Amino acid sequence: MAVATAQADPKHNIKNARAAYYDKIGKYHLTPLWEVLKGLVTPEPKTQMVPALWKFDDVEKLMIEAGDVITAEEAERRVLVLENPGDPGKSRVTNSLFAGIQLIMPGEIADAHQHVASAIRFMLKGRGAYTAVEGEKSSMEHGDFIITANWAPHDHGNPGKEPVMWLDVLDMPTINHFQASFSNHFDEKMQNVNHEDGDSFERYATGVLPDGDLAVSNRTPVINYPYAKMKPILARLKKTGDIDKRHGARVRYANPVNGGPVLPTMGAWLALLPKGFKGEPYRSTDGTVFACAEGRGTTVIDGKSFDWKVNDVFVVPPWKRYQHNAAEESVLFSISDRPAQEALGIWREGN
Ligand SMILES: [Fe+2]
Repeated sequence: MAVATAQADPKHNIKNARAAYYDKIGKYHLTPLWEVLKGLVTPEPKTQMVPALWKFDDVEKLMIEAGDVITAEEAERRVLVLENPGDPGKSRVTNSLFAGIQLIMPGEIADAHQHVASAIRFMLKGRGAYTAVEGEKSSMEHGDFIITANWAPHDHGNPGKEPVMWLDVLDMPTINHFQASFSNHFDEKMQNVNHEDGDSFERYATGVLPDGDLAVSNRTPVINYPYAKMKPILARLKKTGDIDKRHGARVRYANPVNGGPVLPTMGAWLALLPKGFKGEPYRSTDGTVFACAEGRGTTVIDGKSFDWKVNDVFVVPPWKRYQHNAAEESVLFSISDRPAQEALGIWREGN
């Protein structure tokens, strides 16, 4: 009787026939595109990532507790991952970027190593720590932007007296998407240093370049873009009214040799928002991590308000509309995968 009913219902029949067919082709590692096409070729970007903000006051308290439960040596790097709440368990803040807060206690060092994933540090709190990259030992001050490019040997240390914390952003998920990760630990805990602090900035980023043939690379030769040198440039832009209606008075960190982005996979910006700034809405396909270097304000992301102050970090997922408001004069650092998208010809922006 049941069989007779099924035969009388062509819809039921075709459903069964398809299920049987899918089952059959599955044994050959084949699957029908028509069942998944809509989710693959979307009319506009779709993301499982959600907007989120990490308050520095909370993170700091929890990070200091981490100092009690694990040493830097045991942890290798004492980092709390800023995990996007929309995609837990994947150690990433957007599909392409990892973000974390790193703590280094007085007297600690983080051993020398290298990896294919490129990293940046944006200095948040504390003084006296350094990052050594490719022979340059760079001191780290609040707001400094430090770059460890693909395969560059690096180590950190804190010979100072206070805990030091910074924001780490890496292109790790991008590298792992391509399944192209390599890493290597050096026998020496600290690398040999043969360049003075600030050497690469003075050498390449002050309007002159070493004479002779320069190897043009897709990564900047500058290790540290110090906040003390960047902030006055923002002040100049503000003074002359060069204020973007969406982003504020903003500079792009550039490779001084060719004007390109600092890294092929990640680009970064620093923006001053004058007191009372009400930005126009903006969206782009590069999911972006922001960190507040100075001031206080609110960013509305996808209709939801996120209040930020100094050292807070927040993320805007791809193609989510956002709009900045500054309660007082503020400086926002931001980083995204825009250079990678531009190189692929897929980056878009809108309002
Ligand atoms: Fe590293």
